[in-house]
Amino acid sequence: MKKIYVPMIRYGDKEFDEGFIGWGFQSTEEQIRDAQAVLNIVSLERLKILDLACGLGSYHKVWLDAGHSVVGTDLSETFIMMAKNTNASAEYRVENFYDLEEENEYDLVTMIDTPIEDEDVPRNAFRALKPGGSFIFQISNPEYKHMRGQLMENRRTWQENEDRTFLLTRNEYNEEIDRWEYEEWNLNVETGDIVIEHHFSSNFTFSRMVDILLAVGFGSVSFLDADGRPYTTSKEPPKNYFCVAHKGKQ
Ligand SMILES: C[S@@+](CC[C@H](N)C(=O)[O-])C[C@H]1O[C@@H](n2cnc3c(N)ncnc32)[C@H](O)[C@@H]1O
Repeated sequence: MKKIYVPMIRYGDKEFDEGFIGWGFQSTEEQIRDAQAVLNIVSLERLKILDLACGLGSYHKVWLDAGHSVVGTDLSETFIMMAKNTNASAEYRVENFYDLEEENEYDLVTMIDTPIEDEDVPRNAFRALKPGGSFIFQISNPEYKHMRGQLMENRRTWQENEDRTFLLTRNEYNEEIDRWEYEEWNLNVETGDIVIEHHFSSNFTFSRMVDILLAVGFGSVSFLDADGRPYTTSKEPPKNYFCVAHKGKQ
């Protein structure tokens, strides 16, 4: 019996990226709302913006129309090619955000609908910003968890397919550390192979995120909703907050 592990999310793999376009991005309305929210937060003119993990860059039009200049980077050649076709006046490059080396170049660095999983991205963003610049990204709202429904339920299922393969799924959510794990085990009883597709994700708490941002050099940090209102515990919590970190004090 052979176990073959395959990550479920494989950005940069052409076939995966082409499929992802059909299901993985937020709706155009959500993207436009988020792009507008970023402008509500900074409300300055003629910014030089770097958007990390920009995907298709569909929402860059909002920033370009408002007079800003935009550089978009992403791991995926497929997404970057499409972004170039959509926004001729923006600049795009295929780049892993861990390889970003620019210094003192941008007024604003953004990352939309892409989780921060370590301190390397904040460190690179800090370096790329001009003094006085801001890093704005989304962080999932801990208050929203209980409303996430099925995704966060612990459940295991199995199913027999026509080709005599069996599919076992495992979905587990650990509330204490806010870690979600999902696995699909594809068992082929004839060959004995088990192909395991997996996806794990954990979120930093707000206070851990503040610690990371201050440690890499940011001077102040705040959490705002899409209308620019500060974080609050409310009955209808937003799914995400915008985390705004300034290079220097504000
Ligand atoms: C859910 S999509 C969001 C894309 C876009 N910001 C949006 O809101 O439509 C996540 C993006 O992160 C990109 N990505 C993931 N890891 C990356 C990395 N290490 N470097 C650059 N881009 C990355 C993926 O290619 C994908 O386009």
